[in-house]
Amino acid sequence: MPRLFSAIEIPRSIAEQLIMLRSGLSGARWIDPENYHLTLRFIGDVDGATARDFTMALGGIAVPPFELRLNGLGSFGGNRPRALFANLAPSEGLETLQRANERAAREVGLPPESRNFKPHVTLARLRGARADAVATYLERQGGVAAEPFTVNRFVLYSSRNSVGGGPYVVEAAYGLEDPYDAEDTGAPEDDFDFEAAFGSGD
Ligand code: 2AM
Repeated sequence: MPRLFSAIEIPRSIAEQLIMLRSGLSGARWIDPENYHLTLRFIGDVDGATARDFTMALGGIAVPPFELRLNGLGSFGGNRPRALFANLAPSEGLETLQRANERAAREVGLPPESRNFKPHVTLARLRGARADAVATYLERQGGVAAEPFTVNRFVLYSSRNSVGGGPYVVEAAYGLEDPYDAEDTGAPEDDFDFEAAFGSGD
């Protein structure tokens, strides 16, 4: 069963601006910069037919390109910190795209996401990191702000079945188009081979 999630890729130029953050916190397992991403909709392990339907449903999304900017750092887990992440500056385009991904998931029969959308790019998983050490790290590094970048596509990623974690594989990519110069949307960007990716779905 493929383990899937839709996401926005983080451009290499932006990832490079974050590389200097990858030290100075004991208990951090730093994510490889090529695996940085912003999850839009986590799907998890699904059967081939659902994977195929979701792949198609994402192709129906029509949202224009928009700008994003990483802005500051934070941690999840409170007193028992488990992840360190980069925040995103508020973005209406991002909210719209996330809602469209949620609609696509429901259209294919997946249960609604119950958690609030908290856009973030995970930079490290934390194991045994002390809360005060994380607070000190955030004080020292938390003001970081990267250059804005334009989001003109999003992707469907798969990760290793059941286990999760990188490396992630782009299964399909979806261009965002301005409604005024859109010619053709509605299908994954490339010729997508469902059977190769997800099996026949039988
Ligand atoms: P995270 O980075 O905050 O852990 C692939 O696992 C991606 O899907 C990650 O970006 C992960 O977020 C996100 N995700 C969202 N919900 C998840 C869940 N229930 N289990 C695993 N990953 C989840």
